[in-house]
Amino acid sequence: MQYDLVIKGGQVVSAAGTRNADVGIQGEKIVEVADGLSGAEELDARGKLVLPGVLDVHTHFQLPFCGTVSADDFTSGSRAAALGGVTTFIDFAIQSKPASVMETIAARRGEADPKVCVDYGLHAGITDWNDERVKEIPAIIEAGLPTFKMFMIYKSQGWQSNDGDLYAALRETAKYGGMVGVHAENNDLIELLQGEADRDGLKGCYTHAITRPEITETEAIARAIKLNEAAGGTLYIFHMSTGAASDILRDARAAGIRVHAETGPHYLLLDDELFKREDGHHFATCPPIRKPADQQRLWERLADGTLEVLATDTCTFTSGQKAMWNGDYKAIPFGMPGIEALLPLTYTHGVGAGRFSVNQMVAMLSENPARIMGLEGRKGKVAAGHDADVVLFDPDLEVTMRAETHASKCDYDPFEGTRCTGWPVTTLLRGKTIVCDRKFVGQAGDGTFLERKPPAAIR
Ligand code: URP
Ligand code: ZN
Repeated sequence: MQYDLVIKGGQVVSAAGTRNADVGIQGEKIVEVADGLSGAEELDARGKLVLPGVLDVHTHFQLPFCGTVSADDFTSGSRAAALGGVTTFIDFAIQSKPASVMETIAARRGEADPKVCVDYGLHAGITDWNDERVKEIPAIIEAGLPTFKMFMIYKSQGWQSNDGDLYAALRETAKYGGMVGVHAENNDLIELLQGEADRDGLKGCYTHAITRPEITETEAIARAIKLNEAAGGTLYIFHMSTGAASDILRDARAAGIRVHAETGPHYLLLDDELFKREDGHHFATCPPIRKPADQQRLWERLADGTLEVLATDTCTFTSGQKAMWNGDYKAIPFGMPGIEALLPLTYTHGVGAGRFSVNQMVAMLSENPARIMGLEGRKGKVAAGHDADVVLFDPDLEVTMRAETHASKCDYDPFEGTRCTGWPVTTLLRGKTIVCDRKFVGQAGDGTFLERKPPAAIR
């Protein structure tokens, strides 16, 4: 058979192994991975790794937050995604009270659907747990959002849930195969430490680290895991940053508790000494970047499979927006760009540095997020029957990261000057070339909303 498109002669990588093979694509789907395929069009992949498109399951494009709106919208953010080999992202519809979650989802889809350059899904953010939410859960899952987010923090944004709400949501969503993800930080403890910092006259950027020490996150993660165990639910920990929490996660998973977690490149590669720089506020995110010892343990927990997912928490603020802090750490718009660099940083510092194999990398960036987030069978693998979301990755291409050349609207790059060895050069989204030789050739509207199923990891 002659396929519409064949990717020829590359090294096809999966979590299970690497093989030299061609990839036959018909329309939007991969039909066959085998030797000697022929196609009406052929892409030469010799010398390249053929990777499944990356899933970044934690982004915040055009998010109203901290008195401003994150600068990368659904088009600039998803264009940066495509250039970085990310073909699926999952953003959030964070309930904007008094709207219901379903109303918020409709509004968010109205913003995103016409603008996305790659495929996307939404997590349903719940900010007021009550009987109305209980009634909405089945409809939300039916609408393709089987994953929820609750905040153990951000009281001032009106987003915080208490422990009873979290327990009830874990118990309720479990009835329908749903999963609750948490932003885990201890708000009371942070407020106490912020009050003490106020009394001591501390305002500078390093106070962000002082008032959010690792215990403020580790305790909240331990508590969420306990609540989940009692509720019989499935828990996902967003943006885990502490080594101690990763040990708790390892023990919980070994005990059979249904809990999954992600960390991100910023927690693995940046540390809190950066807050002492003049531009330290550019690096402020929640939870904060931490210590080299935390980085070390997070790398180990990725390598041993405890941490199953790498995601970026992309939430871009320009230097102009960040300047709103005006010398007060509490007023910093929290977040950083990152989606474009997820794959090359992971390859360079994970695979290239010998911390884990390229197959493990594909598990963390593609196969595990697809399985955990309800996209198994459709996304995350270069295999027959899957969407033809494929990345040709040049393992020898050297690229120095620069704000001048990245696609994000951000005018700085948290990894400025970092040299990567290995970079994605071509990206296919459902069989369509949207990045060719590192040039974006797609358009807004190429992406589609993904109705996800209750995750196979849970069913
Ligand atoms: O500081 C952060 N991470 N901003 C984005 C919102 C969130 O907490 O995930
Ligand atoms: Zn968060």
